[in-house]
Amino acid sequence: MKALTSAELRQMYLEFFASKGHAIIPSASLIPENDPTVLFTTAGMHPLVPYLLGEKHPEGKRLANVQKCVRTGDIDEVGDASHCTFFEMLGNWSLGDYFKEEAIAYSFEFLTSPEWLGIEKDRLYFTCFAGDEDAPKDIESAQHWMSHGVDESHIYFLGKKHNWWGPAGMTGPCGPDTEMFIDTGLPACGPDCSPACSCGKYLEIWNDVFMQYNKTADGRFEPLAQKNVDTGMGLDRTICILQGKKSVYDTDVFTGVLARIAELSGKGYGDDPDTTRAFRIIADHVRCATFILGDEKGVTPSNVDQGYVLRRLIRRAVRYALRLGIPEQSLQHVARAVIAQYCEVYPELSRNENRIITELNLEEERFSRTIRQGLREFEKLQSRLTGKIIDGASAFRLYDTFGFPIEFTLELAHENGLEGDTKGFEEAFKKHQEVSGAGAEQRFKGGLADTTEETARLHTATHLLHAALRKVLGNEVEQRGSNITAERLRFDFSFPRKMEEHEIREVERLVNEAIEAGVDVVCEEMSVEEAKKQGAIGLFESKYGNIVKVYSVPGYSKEICGGPHASNTAELGRFEIVKEQSSSAGVRRIKAVLHEK
Ligand code: SER
Repeated sequence: MKALTSAELRQMYLEFFASKGHAIIPSASLIPENDPTVLFTTAGMHPLVPYLLGEKHPEGKRLANVQKCVRTGDIDEVGDASHCTFFEMLGNWSLGDYFKEEAIAYSFEFLTSPEWLGIEKDRLYFTCFAGDEDAPKDIESAQHWMSHGVDESHIYFLGKKHNWWGPAGMTGPCGPDTEMFIDTGLPACGPDCSPACSCGKYLEIWNDVFMQYNKTADGRFEPLAQKNVDTGMGLDRTICILQGKKSVYDTDVFTGVLARIAELSGKGYGDDPDTTRAFRIIADHVRCATFILGDEKGVTPSNVDQGYVLRRLIRRAVRYALRLGIPEQSLQHVARAVIAQYCEVYPELSRNENRIITELNLEEERFSRTIRQGLREFEKLQSRLTGKIIDGASAFRLYDTFGFPIEFTLELAHENGLEGDTKGFEEAFKKHQEVSGAGAEQRFKGGLADTTEETARLHTATHLLHAALRKVLGNEVEQRGSNITAERLRFDFSFPRKMEEHEIREVERLVNEAIEAGVDVVCEEMSVEEAKKQGAIGLFESKYGNIVKVYSVPGYSKEICGGPHASNTAELGRFEIVKEQSSSAGVRRIKAVLHEK
């Protein structure tokens, strides 16, 4: 086994797949294109969804890359040895070209050949899909592994929870997978120890997904026109194994970053468990924030969507920096270490260095103000207190009104010999979420938007808005992005200037006219050509397969779309544009809401 550095592994992986006829494609942006169901790119396959569904990729049928990814579902676990919010995924794809046999042969060769990673075959274990009502048992994959000399005892069949991947959002390509594990040499945790358990003996290093199904909005798995392969190998995790380290934070990707945190804090990574955890949280969160701020589609901190996640990452990093005694306005130095580590592979980080540093500093400043104000409010609260308990509603008010983190309230309570009612806080928090619907806070965990009736109504409103904009501003208006939460729609479109007030009102009026007309929404499936012929608008070029769904509001709008939608426009209530602003050069952004009638 070779103890490769991260740079060597990236290069070796791409070299290997180039030698097998794969085109090397660049990493896509971290912000998904026109996909309202996820906040960030979470896997290498995500930007490739249209091609997995059958659209032709300009680079051919065999692709490989290193994709920057963000997954925030486990943010609370960050600080342990393995969790990170940002990671790089090495991946190779077959778009209707090779399938199980070659995919497995490539994986096996790359893992075991002395020319490549050179991992001893006997340290590897494999899992295959056990089969259920949606898809049969994957005996074929097991046979392919065995044809390379893998012993049957090293192969396990597991259910959907383990050996099925996708779709990345609510619908889309997915399928059974076969996963590769390395035995770390730790003792088995019991007689049933297997790659299915998380005791740490077996670590997953690579996943080959056989994407041959499309999950539909009503939960069916229909066969895809083409059989694809989608693989993913976590870069940090793999070098951790190759370098024989116990934690991804001990690998070369974090060396410079952790050293900088040590300089700033005067403490050592590894001094004690709390310090180690704080170092890791700062390193992970600043790395992730640096990539989000430095992305081609750079997002800045805010209270919604990606901006909200970014804000949480930065503020959490600040909190742990404070704990380590790091002076204010220091995250910029950690970010510079991240940029130095990654700028050769991701030159956008150097290009956007100014933005990264400026926004980090600004957010730190805002957060410092919040903390100062929160401390004053805490003192007031304390002076009014009769007992020894800070009740949940008060703690929630500090959080909700002043942005004061609950952890701070709990810590202050503790320092002052008081107790915080965590449970009460959680209840107040939950109640607030129920009232406010699915905001970014809810998407933060799973990364997925919901498909409730509210979002379906807003989706239909988006179509009406799109059509009305074209009517009022002209056909140069084209969709550039769409994002829907339960509370509002957000629509980005090409247009060179600010809209006039009377244009905004006219668009609003047209949408409300369609709503008042109470028109049934019609969904039809047809070929792309037919959709074009019928004058449907939508993203022909980049998103869908050959047969597309076309949603019409007869007389008002006809658009290619995956749905779901309201069944009649009357369900929409009343439409209001609440904001019209610039999104980027030549692109305007509208935010709009629906009110009950
Ligand atoms: N999409 C699969 C995963 O994320 C393989 O890349 O594991």
